[in-house]
Amino acid sequence: MKFILSGAALAFSVLAFSIVLTGCVDKPEDKTTYDVPTLANINSEHIANAANTPEVWLSYGGTYDEQRFSRLKQINQENVNALGVAWTYDLQTSRGVEATPIVLDGIMYVTGSWSIVYALDAKTGEELWVYNPEVSGEDAAKGCCDVINRGVAVHEGKVIVGVFDGRLEALNAKTGDVIWSTLTVDKSMPYTITGAPRVVKDKVLIGNGGAELGVRGFVSAYDVNTGELAWRFYTTPNPDKKPDGAASDDIFASAANDTWGDSGKWKTEGGGGTVWDSIIYDTVNDSVIFGVGNASPWNSDIRDPEGNGDNFFLSSIVAVDADTGKYKWHFQTTPRDQYDFTATQSLILADLPVGAKGALRRVVMQAPKNGFYYVLDAASGAFISGKPFVDLMTWATGLDANGRPIENPEARNWTKNGFINIPGPMGAHNWHPMAYNPQTGLAYIPAQQVPQALVPNLKSNTNPKRWNIGGDLAAGVPPVFPKGTLDFIRKDFKGNLLAWDPVKQEARWSVEHSGPGNGGVLTTASNLVFQGTIDGELVAYNAENGDKLWGKQANSGVVAPPSTYSIDGEQYIAIATGWGGGWALNYGVGWPKAVVPDVGHVIVFKLGAIGEVPDIPENGVVMSPKGNDFGGAEMKTLGLRKYAENCMVCHGPLVVSSGVIPDLRWSYLSADKEAWNEIVLGGALTDNGMVSFSKYLNADEAEAIRAYVMGQSWLAVANGDAKEPSTE
Ligand code: HEC
Repeated sequence: MKFILSGAALAFSVLAFSIVLTGCVDKPEDKTTYDVPTLANINSEHIANAANTPEVWLSYGGTYDEQRFSRLKQINQENVNALGVAWTYDLQTSRGVEATPIVLDGIMYVTGSWSIVYALDAKTGEELWVYNPEVSGEDAAKGCCDVINRGVAVHEGKVIVGVFDGRLEALNAKTGDVIWSTLTVDKSMPYTITGAPRVVKDKVLIGNGGAELGVRGFVSAYDVNTGELAWRFYTTPNPDKKPDGAASDDIFASAANDTWGDSGKWKTEGGGGTVWDSIIYDTVNDSVIFGVGNASPWNSDIRDPEGNGDNFFLSSIVAVDADTGKYKWHFQTTPRDQYDFTATQSLILADLPVGAKGALRRVVMQAPKNGFYYVLDAASGAFISGKPFVDLMTWATGLDANGRPIENPEARNWTKNGFINIPGPMGAHNWHPMAYNPQTGLAYIPAQQVPQALVPNLKSNTNPKRWNIGGDLAAGVPPVFPKGTLDFIRKDFKGNLLAWDPVKQEARWSVEHSGPGNGGVLTTASNLVFQGTIDGELVAYNAENGDKLWGKQANSGVVAPPSTYSIDGEQYIAIATGWGGGWALNYGVGWPKAVVPDVGHVIVFKLGAIGEVPDIPENGVVMSPKGNDFGGAEMKTLGLRKYAENCMVCHGPLVVSSGVIPDLRWSYLSADKEAWNEIVLGGALTDNGMVSFSKYLNADEAEAIRAYVMGQSWLAVANGDAKEPSTE
C-alpha cells in the first residue's frame, strides 16, 4: 500500500476544553446566547448558530447555510501578507484530498484519501488518533474519480464519516474507536461514498456516487445515535415503478414515474441521479435540500428511448421534510440530462434583496455543472433568476421564464450525430465548493471551461459495472497525432476564480488560473477570499476586487477548500493538500506539470508564524520509454479503444497521466509483457486499487493496450514531449 500508518489509535491527549473567546470576533451584544459547543455537547442547535461561534468550524460548509463565510477578521487585508506556516501534518497517502477540516474543542478532524480520519491538535498539529477503515482495493476501483473523501460530521462526542465502500460510521471523537457502522448501499453494485455526512437534529444524512457505473441514486437519513435507517429518498424510479417502502414513494407514484418510459437501460443501469455531494438544511423551512447528479447511462436514447420525459429527479435540486424525508419541491436544472450535468454542486442558503422592492427573500443558490447560476426561493423552489456564469456555452442559449434551459437542438442530438459540448462533463463548476460573502454580496465560484466531444456509442454499454455511458470515450482520438496536439487541447481548458453578483446575476471580477480543477473557497468578514490552486499555491484575494494579497506555495496541487478557526486569540487558516480527484484522474492531458504522486498534508497558517511547507517528493520518474514500440496500426487501434473503455478514467486520456496514478508510458511494467499481464489480467496490484480486468479483456486485448501504451511513449519522444531512452 502507498500509505503506511500506525494501525492502532493513539492515546487521546488531554486538552483544555475551554476555548478563549477572542477579541477579534464580531459578537452580538448578548454573548451568552451563543455557547461555543464542546466535543461532548455539539449538536444541531450549535450548527444552526454556527455563524455566531466562528472560533470553531462545525460542519462541512461551516454553517447549515453552507456559505463558507467566517466572521473571524483578525487576519485582514492589511496583515494577510504576514501569514506563515503554524504547523503541517503528513497524511501519508498519495491520492486526492478534498476534505474541509472540522475544528472544535481545540481538535481538528480531517479526512485524507481512502476515507482515513485524522484527529489532530488544532493548535500544534500533534496527532491524537488515526482511524483507517481499510477500504479494499476492489472497492477503491469502483469510483469514477479517485478514492477521495470530503470530510466528517460531529455530534455529541461522535465523529461521523462516510466510507468509500458505502459504510457510514460513527467514531468516538476522543479515541477514534468505532461506535456504530452501517452499510448504506447494496455492495453488489458499484456505489461509493465520497461526500461529507451532515447531521440535522438527531439524524445523519448521506448519499453516494456511481452514476457512470450504473446505479440508482438515493439519499438516506440515519439515527445519529444508533445508525439505524430513519428515511430514504430515491431520486430515480424503482425499476418496476413499484413502491420501495421509502419516503419518495408518493411523489414517484403521483409525478416522477411518468417522466420515465417503460423500457430502456435505466431499468438495469439504475438511472443514476446520485446524491454524491451537496446536502444542506434550511432551518427556516425545516427542509433538507440536496443536489442530484447525472443520468445513468448518460445517453438518453439508450437510457429511456420511449417518449421524451424529463426523467425526474436527474440534475435537480430537491427539498424534503427534514424529519420524514417527504417531498416538498424540486427544481430540475437540466431536464432529461444527457450531458453528465450534475446538480450536486454547492448549495448555499442566503437572504437576498430579490423580493418586491428589494425586500429580503430567503433563497437557495447553485452554480451547477451546466453553467447557469440559479437563485431559487428556499420555501417553494420557485425560480427567481438564472444566468450563464461562463463566457462560452454551446448546449443552451439561455433559460426561459420558468428557468428551463433553451437547448441547442444540435446538443440534444449528440446521441445521434455527436457534438462538442461546453460545458463538458467536468462542468463549468464541479464539486470544489463555492463561498458566499454577505458583506460583499458576492459568490466566489471555482469556475472552469472544459469542452468535451460527446459522440454516441450504442455498443459501449457492454461492461457491466464499469463506465457505461453510451458515449464513445475514444471519440476522434487517432492513435498517432502530430506534435503540438496536447498544447492545442490544453489551450481550451481554462480555470478561474469568479466573483458573481447573484442579485444582478453578473460577474464582478475574475482571476485566471493556469487550468481547471482549482480548489474550493473560503471567505471571511475581513473581506478576504482564500483558494488553493492546481499549481499548489494557497492564495488570499481582496473579496471586493480580486487583488491578490498573499500567496504561499503548498508544494502540492490543492483541490480542497480551506476552513478557519481561532484558539487562544489567534486565527488559523487550515487547508488539506493532496493532488487528485476527478479532474486529475480523468483529464491527465489537461495537467502538463505533475509526474509524481503527491503526498497529502494538512497545512495550517497564522499571522507571524515561520514554519516551512513540506518539500515536493522526489521525482523518480524518468519520462522516457522503457521498452520497444511494437504492433501494427490495427493492433494499436484496438488497444486505443480498449484503453479508452477500461483504463482512461484513471490513467488519463491519450495515456497522459496527471501523476496521481502511474503514467503507463514511463512504467517498466508496460515494457514487460509478463508483469503487465500479472497486473492487468492477474490483479497483482489489487490492494492498491488496480484490479484485474480479466472480466472485460482477453489476453489479445490486454496486449493490444500494451502496444498502444508503448506506441504513445514513443510518440511522445517523436513529438518532443519526452526523452529518448538512455543507452547506457
Ligand atoms: C480505477 C482506477 C484504475 C483503472 C480503471 C485502471 N487502473 Fe491501472 N492503476 C491504478 C492504480 C491506483 C495504480 C497504482 C497501483 C499501485 O500504487 O501499486 C495502477 C497501476 C497500473 C499499472 C502499474 C504501473 C506502475 O508503474 O506501477 C499498470 C501496468 C496498469 N495500472 C495498467 C492498467 C490498465 C492496462 C488498465 C485498463 C485495462 C488500468 N490500469 C485501469 C488504477 C486504475
